[in-house]
Amino acid sequence: MKWTTKITELLGCKYPILQGATEMIGTWSFAAAVAESGAHGTITASICKTPDKLKDDIKKCKKATSGSFGVNLSIGLCPQVEDMLEVCIEEGVPVETSVYKPDALAERIKEAGLPWIHKSARVKDAVHAQETGAHAIILVGTEGAGIKNPAQLPTMTTILWGLRALSVPVIAAGGIGDSHSFLGALAMGAEGVTMGSALMTTKECPIGNAFKEKILKLSLDEPDFRTRVLTPAPFDKNAVRPEPEDIDWSHAASFAVTGINTILSVKEFVQQIIQGAEEILETRQFLKN
Ligand SMILES: Cc1cc2nc3c(=O)[nH]c(=O)nc-3n(C[C@H](O)[C@H](O)[C@H](O)COP(=O)(O)O)c2cc1C
Repeated sequence: MKWTTKITELLGCKYPILQGATEMIGTWSFAAAVAESGAHGTITASICKTPDKLKDDIKKCKKATSGSFGVNLSIGLCPQVEDMLEVCIEEGVPVETSVYKPDALAERIKEAGLPWIHKSARVKDAVHAQETGAHAIILVGTEGAGIKNPAQLPTMTTILWGLRALSVPVIAAGGIGDSHSFLGALAMGAEGVTMGSALMTTKECPIGNAFKEKILKLSLDEPDFRTRVLTPAPFDKNAVRPEPEDIDWSHAASFAVTGINTILSVKEFVQQIIQGAEEILETRQFLKN
């Protein structure tokens, strides 16, 4: 079946699945693997450190795939963010802004006419980003990974509230990692989903296999895991970042990984989600119109 939504139309991807930006992990080759699977790949610009490197990486990604991919500009985390944006404009790739308000970049993005998605944890910030001109909003609930907001609410609540408050398409994120949660988000009215943690378990994700195995073992029975995911930790944008090899990546994963048992290629993983969703639609006729 065709998975056309307002988001696949905005970005030109086959499936309404977006790769979550991941600091230190969201490389061009990982984004290319996601784009090749039919989902939308995301290069996390903060990894590139300089605009020249971002330009090189976008070119490499374009060579590696004809699929859809864009660049995440995490405001406050990404160095030289204005110049990174200029590279995205020169290369004509969709932009995803996140972390802080996108106001400082908004005029330039609109002037350039790039597809523009902003990611928020709070509906209030999403409404502001829509007013600023974003074409679509990713809303992330507490079940998700990444920087937390003390006012963040669970994914289902946030998405439903966001759909009432916003007129631009909503992309659901936070705890989504299987066919049921993917289809559930679309059934609620989201036009797509973003997956961060779930894609960390794939073969092409550039973290060590031992961490992937550790992530697969995470269980909702573990109080530490639950606390880590649900508790907003204070965020210090000036804090010294550890080296990637010094990080236990299983500490970064969200509830999205709890239904994943095997390390698959991105293509196999995305196909599993799509096939599973098609089977659900097949066996539950009441979901069809
Ligand atoms: C290891 C890791 C690093 C992340 N780094 C960023 C980042 O630099 N910028 C950003 O906007 N989001 C970042 N995120 C959040 C994801 O883009 C996405 O919003 C989140 O993973 C969605 O929740 P999920 O993990 O349940 O799929 C990160 C997530 C993970 C797991």
